[in-house]
Amino acid sequence: MSNRTFTMIKPDAMADGHAGAILDQIIKAGFKVVAMKLTRLSAEKAGEFYAIHKERPFFGELVDFMSSGPIIAAILEKDNAVADFRQLIGATNPANAEDGTIRKRFARSVGENAVHGSDSDENAAIEGSFFFNSFEKVG
Ligand code: RTP
Ligand code: MG
Repeated sequence: MSNRTFTMIKPDAMADGHAGAILDQIIKAGFKVVAMKLTRLSAEKAGEFYAIHKERPFFGELVDFMSSGPIIAAILEKDNAVADFRQLIGATNPANAEDGTIRKRFARSVGENAVHGSDSDENAAIEGSFFFNSFEKVG
């Protein structure tokens, strides 16, 4: 079991002014920030990041949305990080997310759902390295 996961605060939550509250909730839940940056994905990079979904009907919308504004990307550390973080953010569709989860509190919709969380240890490592080099992983 890995102790790291990767997250992004997505453009909707950034535009809605929720970045501070989301980071506060993440840190209070016991995650340590290992790396963090404010950045913006090009459409090309957003498509590369979500390439696993390229055959899905929502792929074009997802790429447009994820490249529509700044994001915060971060690597987080905690025991059981991947599963615990998925629990903290809640279901993909905020309508189905449990009360108190980040998506329930801050997401706009199933597409514009405030945060990303890695779905496996393997993807956490791949996604972290997509955004950060070894010198930027300070934790
Ligand atoms: P994420 O990868 O962003 O953490 O989200 P997830 O695992 O909960 O959901 P996933 O199935 O991986 O979908 C990736 C992102 O695509 C957008 N989406 N839109 N319109 C739709 O029906 C739809 N379904 C998914 C969301 O932004 C979702 O987080
Ligand atoms: Mg996913």
